[in-house]
Amino acid sequence: MSWDFRKVGTRICVCYNVTNDQALDSWREQKTPSVEALSKRFNCGQNCGMCIPYFRTLLREFQRGEWPCNSESDSKNEWFGVKNG
Ligand code: FES
Repeated sequence: MSWDFRKVGTRICVCYNVTNDQALDSWREQKTPSVEALSKRFNCGQNCGMCIPYFRTLLREFQRGEWPCNSESDSKNEWFGVKNG
């Protein structure tokens, strides 16, 4: 099974063990959700920084109402042009 950063519950920040559902809960609580506020709260992105592009993509899709999607078949992985399947 491949890693899917859009699948709810997936760990995005390996350094600080932060999952995308933690991000989702946090963004739902915030009036102006941001990756910066998430980083302050959970420390994600404050070590290697590899998770930041993923959180930024998720936040952008969250704000557009595109993530989380209703079914796994809607899930897509086009980040850096990589597609699953
Ligand atoms: S993976 Fe998030 S700081 Fe390293």
